[in-house]
Amino acid sequence: MSVNKEVKRITTHTVQEMKNRGEKIAMLTAYDYSMAAVVDDSGMDIILVGDSASNVMAGHETTLPITLDQMIYHASSVVRAAKRALVVVDLPFGSYQGNSKEALNSAIRIMKESGAHGVKMEGGVEIAESVSRILTAGIPVMGHLGLTPQSIYKFGTYTVRAKQDAEAQKLKEDALKLQELGCFAIVVEKIPAKLAKEVTESVQIPIIGIGAGQHCDGQVLVIHDMLGINKGFKPRFLRQYANLYEQMNGAIKNYVGDIKSKSFPNENEQY
Ligand code: KIV
Repeated sequence: MSVNKEVKRITTHTVQEMKNRGEKIAMLTAYDYSMAAVVDDSGMDIILVGDSASNVMAGHETTLPITLDQMIYHASSVVRAAKRALVVVDLPFGSYQGNSKEALNSAIRIMKESGAHGVKMEGGVEIAESVSRILTAGIPVMGHLGLTPQSIYKFGTYTVRAKQDAEAQKLKEDALKLQELGCFAIVVEKIPAKLAKEVTESVQIPIIGIGAGQHCDGQVLVIHDMLGINKGFKPRFLRQYANLYEQMNGAIKNYVGDIKSKSFPNENEQY
């Protein structure tokens, strides 16, 4: 399918209209200027500056260590590249759970210092007051339910969430609550496709899935995963569109070989 690149900046209203007319929403992470420029030029609707930067950029085991300053650095690099996409930035662990004033200050810092267009926060009713306060300041908020990686030590595992009735019921209530508060969209991560379908149909705002099946209004993946940069990471939900690890590794090995064999640079590659 061809993408209309003439379209003006995607906004929260644009993605709502996309849901209303049944057009799927494409979302992908990016963390730096060069990658974000490629992603934006590919017709992406939403670029997520995810706290997965903690894993894929910094090499941490979880998303917990990344700081607000580091998120702002990544976000401002992405914003400089994004001419069309809506740029949403994760509020990192510890920057909003304390109280709603702290949450608002963190969200304001992201908006002011990076120029992003909205923030994403993990959780449902527990963070209602913070979500509300941030929205009152005019900052668009995207929710995140299901497998919320900032709570990995509570879950103890990255397996599928909300398989049991009680957790599924809470997730549905959380989605309704986030909509009622005024969130413009919600990410649902690693939940059964049937539940994701129910949630998608029960709210008016867009539901963006990751490992949540085909019925969501949109899909999101981590760019390093879908480009195959993360060697060996291949969960069932992931469609890998390239094997960049192998390609990059091959190219870099060739470079090393050319230096060692004295074939690079040649006389045409010098002044
Ligand atoms: O941080 C992230 O990349 C995310 C996506 C997996 C939704 O939150």
